[in-house]
Amino acid sequence: MTLPPVIAIDGPTASGKGTVASLVAEKLGFHYLDSGALYRLVALASEKEGIDVKNGPKLGVLAQKLVISFEKGQIFLNGENVTEAIRTEAIGLRASALATHTEVRSALVGLQHGFRQHPGLVADGRDMASVIFPDAILKVFLTASAQARAERRYKQLIAKGISAKLDDLLRDLQERDARDSSRGAAPLIVAEGAKVLETSDLSIDQAVKAVLDWYQSKGA
Ligand code: C5P
Repeated sequence: MTLPPVIAIDGPTASGKGTVASLVAEKLGFHYLDSGALYRLVALASEKEGIDVKNGPKLGVLAQKLVISFEKGQIFLNGENVTEAIRTEAIGLRASALATHTEVRSALVGLQHGFRQHPGLVADGRDMASVIFPDAILKVFLTASAQARAERRYKQLIAKGISAKLDDLLRDLQERDARDSSRGAAPLIVAEGAKVLETSDLSIDQAVKAVLDWYQSKGA
């Protein structure tokens, strides 16, 4: 039996890949994997258990035993709804720090492969095209300038009534970019054969259309 097709969308933090990937999935009637949420879940759980972010072996064991479920856009960790709790900047930074450990990355591979179901999957993250789904039918590297990404994040937070400082956001984002790109385990890279989509001056609709056009041009 042939495996369901995968569209892999990778890119740096706040590039809009989550929004674009979930809309592409919706248009195609495909499943959607937000792989960053898995690292954020390990970050939240390990914080609650007081595990040091440098302790790869212990974090790996924790990642293996997490009971995670995604239901109608809501995310549950060991039965608790943590949809909002995993979205803070602090959890994002912690996730980026623990994602450097191979023990954590390996523990999450099977879970990610489990999302590949008919009729297809749109997966977003850092290593979807390079490591998790190297046979993806379409690989997209979605990016935008650091300034554009910081401004988008700023607007999102302000719209939610959360106070934020543009300079702090820009600094956090650059710190996370540097760590995600320079780490030894599954660094953020433009995978071979990936198409680069620069979204600084694109609307969400334009970015979604570009991905759908590429997918269709694959004869899908
Ligand atoms: O995409 P998001 O900002 O939610 O991801 C949080 C962190 O998880 C990233 O900064 C990155 O370090 C890590 N991550 C990863 N591999 C993925 C997805 C996310 O290392 N596939």
